[in-house]
Amino acid sequence: MSAQYDSIGEKVADWDVLPVRSEYIEGHTFFKVLGPIAGQSVLDVACGDGLYTRQFKARGASRAVGVDVSEEMIRVGRKLEDEQRSGIEYHVSDVAEMANLGQFDLVTAVYLLHYAHSPEHMLRMCRNIHAHLKPGGSFVTYTFNPGFSAKGPNSTRYGISMLDFPQAPQDGHAITAELHTKTPFTIHFSYWSQATHEQVLREAGFHSLTWTRPECSSEGLLKYGQAFWQDYLDNPHGIALRCQR
Ligand SMILES: C[S@@+](CC[C@H](N)C(=O)[O-])C[C@H]1O[C@@H](n2cnc3c(N)ncnc32)[C@H](O)[C@@H]1O
Repeated sequence: MSAQYDSIGEKVADWDVLPVRSEYIEGHTFFKVLGPIAGQSVLDVACGDGLYTRQFKARGASRAVGVDVSEEMIRVGRKLEDEQRSGIEYHVSDVAEMANLGQFDLVTAVYLLHYAHSPEHMLRMCRNIHAHLKPGGSFVTYTFNPGFSAKGPNSTRYGISMLDFPQAPQDGHAITAELHTKTPFTIHFSYWSQATHEQVLREAGFHSLTWTRPECSSEGLLKYGQAFWQDYLDNPHGIALRCQR
């Protein structure tokens, strides 16, 4: 199986340390939307090298399983697990084709849905996620913000810029983002509107869809100040979404 993240490999970890990705914005917002993890079983799809999968275990998840389409990302996750065992299982699979791994209290996906090639691909992902949830379980995702505006700011300050982002993006528009890390790299994905996300999720069986814009933690405000964050918070590249089975 080949995937764009196979060639990005361990470079992706350089991005993890940037302020917008850290506990100041993304992690802070994601965990706030997730709520308590202790005692819950969590399936983390599009887990990459397990950045969040490890945090679920550290926060007391009863079971943490990571799935990613990239063999290289899973190789790195397994290497880190070998170095410091916490009982995480990793599997290589497209979420749309994932074999049955059981039923979980929570399924999480930090940056998955915009990698869908088509609404049908997104629907297969979402149906499979739905099938992996216990009745009443929650799917919590952090995805490319369908409301992102070309007006920017699109600066290196936050660690990510969109190249040639259109004024009025349409479903399926190919987007290239540049990641400003020690070794910069680009990623490619597709634009999907809020309406398309919601239609697909409802068709897959989800209800109570709630979007949450990113917030900055008090630590982030203390460290960098409101003025540093304001441009990002006005036009964030990512957004959280929670829905119920
Ligand atoms: C930006 S990375 C995020 C990784 C991780 N969630 C994190 O926050 O560190 C996106 C990940 O999605 C994975 N991915 C993209 N499409 C996928 C699919 N259809 N099924 C499973 N993983 C996928 C990529 O291989 C990549 O590791």
